[in-house]
Amino acid sequence: MASSYPDPHSHSAALYRRASEVLAGGSTRLTTFFSPYPIYAVSGSGSKVTDADGVERVDCLNNYMTLIHGHAHPEVVEAAIGQIRRGSCFAMPTEREIELAEILTERVESVETMRFCNSGSEAVLVAIKAARAHTGRPMVAKCEGAYHGCYDPVEVSLSSSPESWGDSDEPAKVPYTVGLPDKVMEDVVVLPYNEVEASRALIERHADRLAAIVVDPVPTRVGCVPMRREYAQMVREAATRHGIVLVFDEVASFRVRYRGAQSMVGVTPDLTTFGKIIGGGLPVGAVGGRREVMAVFDASKGKPRASHGGTFNANPATMAAGAAAMRLLTEEAVDTLNARGDRARERIDAAFEAAGVAGQATGAGSLVMIHFNRRDLGSYRDVFQDASESRRTSALHKALLNRGFIVGSGGLAAISTANTDREIDDLGGAIEDSLREMRLNDPGG
Ligand SMILES: Cc1ncc(COP(=O)(O)O)c(C=O)c1O
Repeated sequence: MASSYPDPHSHSAALYRRASEVLAGGSTRLTTFFSPYPIYAVSGSGSKVTDADGVERVDCLNNYMTLIHGHAHPEVVEAAIGQIRRGSCFAMPTEREIELAEILTERVESVETMRFCNSGSEAVLVAIKAARAHTGRPMVAKCEGAYHGCYDPVEVSLSSSPESWGDSDEPAKVPYTVGLPDKVMEDVVVLPYNEVEASRALIERHADRLAAIVVDPVPTRVGCVPMRREYAQMVREAATRHGIVLVFDEVASFRVRYRGAQSMVGVTPDLTTFGKIIGGGLPVGAVGGRREVMAVFDASKGKPRASHGGTFNANPATMAAGAAAMRLLTEEAVDTLNARGDRARERIDAAFEAAGVAGQATGAGSLVMIHFNRRDLGSYRDVFQDASESRRTSALHKALLNRGFIVGSGGLAAISTANTDREIDDLGGAIEDSLREMRLNDPGG
């Protein structure tokens, strides 16, 4: 069935009206909502998703970077269901969490020990707790524009704009949520992403109060522009010199290399946060790193320096699904996936060229971001979309939905092992057609 989004008579539109009666804002998740109504999923298999109106689309977003093997991969489903049949959660640990931790600690050298939680946001929160307990200091440094989930300190300056962002060498602290306590803002340092000297100076200035430097090596909200190696080296050196805990948030970026994006930038963090792909499509988060830092959670000798609990932590269904997904993600599979990411970037660049529209694709490995500009992109401020760019990004998203492709409403694609080369080529073709159509509808751009 063909799609004609938006359609007020569609099942999705009706579901949204029903949802608006009982769900605040009609939805439970910021990123899955777009105006005038989100499209409701009914089922997914491999690279395809079928919506409430029977429309099938190629999924190039894969639950925002989660489903590394696409939807309902038989081995992952079998692992999860097999475990649920034996019991979905217990007030006891299970062998399943040891298995997944063994897989991840073997892959990521910097991770000696780890602990599981239920989301990437929680993983970042737990990492910051560990850093504070380890150092006895309160402050956190994070990069302007970088997304690390919904914990208050890391939301600061998530959506800074030219009106609010201040000096480029010392970005202003901009609250994301109304009512954020001043104290939270006081304990945050906002670093200009990829700007080595300016960031170093800010870290030096606050060094004696900094517990953690939290960085994402491929930040989606900074256009999936990979971290410069010299930036990664600078944060490592500064953290070591001042006894600050360096946290790599690899909730999204872990997928870009078999051993995580940290192996791409050549730096060893003290702590790493995980989420998304490591749960095989079920809710998950994890933090791991140096044994000495992770020891803050050790309750074997009495009350730990930092507490970490959670009813569903390391729930065995997630652990089993995650281990199955990770076993399927061999080094070879990551290489194939990354080649598809390169192919997607090439096809998207070619589509902009052929349609005569200024645009480009950035990213690393299987993470791809579409931009309506040809600027040289390094920092959040380079990537920041003006009103016309963001209008065109949103128009492209909708045009692609109507051509049978799912990408993020902000232009993100996250390729899965279920996506074929043919689908990537077709995505390029659909982007070219969409751009031509958009030019006709909005010649001024
Ligand atoms: C880098 C990064 N950190 C943290 C998070 C938060 O993860 P979750 O949505 O599982 O809470 C995300 C989610 O997109 C992310 O991309």
